[in-house]
Amino acid sequence: MRFDARRILLIIGGGIAAYKSLDLIRRLQDGGARVRSILTPAARHFVTPLAAGALCGERAYTDLFDAQSEFDVGHIRLARDTDLIVVAPATADLMARMAGGLADDLASAVLLATDKPILLAPAMNPHMWAAKATQRNLAQLAADGVHFVGPARGAMAERGESGLGRMAEPLEIAAAAAALLRVGRALSGKRVLVTSGPTHEPIDPVRFIANRSSGKQGHAIAAAAAAAGADVVLISGPVDLDDPPGTTVVKVETAQDMLAAVERALPADAAIFAAAVADWRVEHSSGSKIKKRQGRPAALALVENPDILATVARRKSGRPQVVIGFAAETEDLIGNAKAKLVAKGCDFIVANDVSAATGIMGGDSNTVHLIGAAGVESWPPLSKDEVAHRLIERLATHLKDAT
Ligand code: CTP
Repeated sequence: MRFDARRILLIIGGGIAAYKSLDLIRRLQDGGARVRSILTPAARHFVTPLAAGALCGERAYTDLFDAQSEFDVGHIRLARDTDLIVVAPATADLMARMAGGLADDLASAVLLATDKPILLAPAMNPHMWAAKATQRNLAQLAADGVHFVGPARGAMAERGESGLGRMAEPLEIAAAAAALLRVGRALSGKRVLVTSGPTHEPIDPVRFIANRSSGKQGHAIAAAAAAAGADVVLISGPVDLDDPPGTTVVKVETAQDMLAAVERALPADAAIFAAAVADWRVEHSSGSKIKKRQGRPAALALVENPDILATVARRKSGRPQVVIGFAAETEDLIGNAKAKLVAKGCDFIVANDVSAATGIMGGDSNTVHLIGAAGVESWPPLSKDEVAHRLIERLATHLKDAT
């Protein structure tokens, strides 16, 4: 991540996740950002202005009516002398204030006065996140052009509580900030098609053939493309994930449905095939539940599914300018992936080792190699969000170079 000395104003809200915001300051600085901080009154119950100020190398701002800071910089300059405002953790209260346009403390006054992009990293109890009022505020803020990263699903600080509401990890927030600043709207005006998740191939009304894909990587790619300004169609098999904001999601079950949806979504400037499509389907799925037969399981005749990636990459007309595939392998990763690049006719292959020991299937991180005509590039272990942002950055450069 390179911020090239861009200025980021970090507003720390009052939640237990505030301790992670100190780490976020470091992550942003590691990329070369210049970070200033504001602490809300509630945030001061969790972290001190001294700690935030020491990390930023500049005092942390706290009061709207502080003569010293009004003399130094003032809230209007805090709002304007920055390239991006990040609010982490963004509490339910802060979101409500923003949605309502309040300005009775320094953080909300700055957020109201700014003309710069705003990125919120919400963090709250899952019940607060799901509450109608919060969802109303979220919809309002999204309509106002505010950007979001997270929240994620997981264990809460309160014992025994878990669900959607955990703040995104500092690295993910930094990646989202980088995407907003760096890639900016690099894909605006471009249409990007993404496939994600597994497919389910029915055996009978209650059983199906599936695989362990969670859809996390494909969904992260769709979200990153949307954050870069693309018009995104995400064609997804059955997953337990929220629809990425700003994308059009088409939900399908089988490989054949996925191919039909992909063809309907064309033309596109770029297509990224991250779905783990089932290679085979049951030739004649049963309309009624298959019953146990004495001593012998029913034999399933399988037929091969269409290769969606190869079908699109080999189109004579209406082929997307850039076609990117994935290669999930458990042995000879690079060799197999290079063979797939050629066999399927795509421009790039993202190769990953999905052996059980890697924990990639269903996990939050990924170690990939980007393979194209120019050779193999090995990326370090990254979160799936960061893999997505890097891939979208590459795509943007490639589309630009090609025009
Ligand atoms: N793919 C697809 N349609 C299929 C099978 C795969 O679009 N029926 C795409 C995947 O989305 C991925 C790439 O092809 O981008 C490679 O998928 P992978 O499962 O690694 O390869 P397969 O072609 O299925 O080959 P194999 O299972 O033999 O490794």
